[in-house]
Amino acid sequence: MASQTLTIRKPDDWHVHLRDGEMLATVAPYTARQFARAIVMPNLVPPVTTVEAARDYRKRILEATAPGFTPLMTCYLTDDTSPDELARGHEEGVWIAAKLYPAGATTNSASGVTDIRNIYPALTRMEKLGMVLCVHGEVTDPEVDVFDREAVFIDRVLLELVRDFPALKIVFEHITTAEAVRFVEGSGPNIGATVTPQHLIINRNAIFAGGLRPHAYCLPVAKREQHRLAVRKAATSGSPKFFLGTDSAPHSREAKESGCGCAGIFNAPFALESYVDVFDEEDALDRFEAFASVNGANFYGLPINEDNVTLERFYHDVPAEVAGLVPFQAGEKMRWRFVG
Ligand code: DOR
Ligand code: ZN
Repeated sequence: MASQTLTIRKPDDWHVHLRDGEMLATVAPYTARQFARAIVMPNLVPPVTTVEAARDYRKRILEATAPGFTPLMTCYLTDDTSPDELARGHEEGVWIAAKLYPAGATTNSASGVTDIRNIYPALTRMEKLGMVLCVHGEVTDPEVDVFDREAVFIDRVLLELVRDFPALKIVFEHITTAEAVRFVEGSGPNIGATVTPQHLIINRNAIFAGGLRPHAYCLPVAKREQHRLAVRKAATSGSPKFFLGTDSAPHSREAKESGCGCAGIFNAPFALESYVDVFDEEDALDRFEAFASVNGANFYGLPINEDNVTLERFYHDVPAEVAGLVPFQAGEKMRWRFVG
């Protein structure tokens, strides 16, 4: 009989949006409940571009969460990012990584990078420091079809980046395509990727199932089934290059259910349940711990968590609403439950 429980080292979320203010207070406890550490994305308004802003934001996150949760902060890269400020934040233990948003690629990316060459001085310093670059890997060229933006980003930006900075540690965030899987698998050990629950579970049909489904819309947008299968295979393969990053990105119901709905899926309340179900379906439960709790820590050069968490087989429904927000897989059946 298949085992009824699964106990693993406590996982970390290597990519999450915790927001600020009231939204921070609402959503952060869900992440802190399941994860020991989380890499917090800096796309606030205004974006987190200085060491002081990151320190203050970290403090607000700690105030919003129970003791024991460690937020890991990132620097939002702009055309004007100073290599010295990056180095200072890294040396002072504030920044674990810096995030590249191509300008206009996604939520609050208006101050992002307009040309990769503009951050070459910053990347040169990061490569020397061993500081990780987190990449939102989509081109913003309006001529490029929205479903091709990730694959085109590899050809136009990433190949050049790994050529010019061969030792730079890069995380290709929230990969969605077979091309991204191939790129990561074919690169050296300094290139890794995060994988979200939604890109393992839905394909692009979910956005149009019986009508327009704003809660299935995120960026990068879900792709065709063949891509979902490629991402699933990579995540459950046991390769150390792929690790958990939820990209949980809450927006109010009004902001999602709108004439111009925001991109982002709020998956934090049942993140581990969503992931473990995928590993169960792929007969890869024995590889879940590496994906959720080991590979990311190793990539970032951090220790593996000492505590354990347990999941158990237990049928339940995801509620239609959690704290006034619509969670990923709302109303759907879950086969696992996070025990703690
Ligand atoms: O769907 C997304 N939402 N993708 C991103 O890259 C940003 C995020 C957000 O901050 O809402
Ligand atoms: Zn994100």
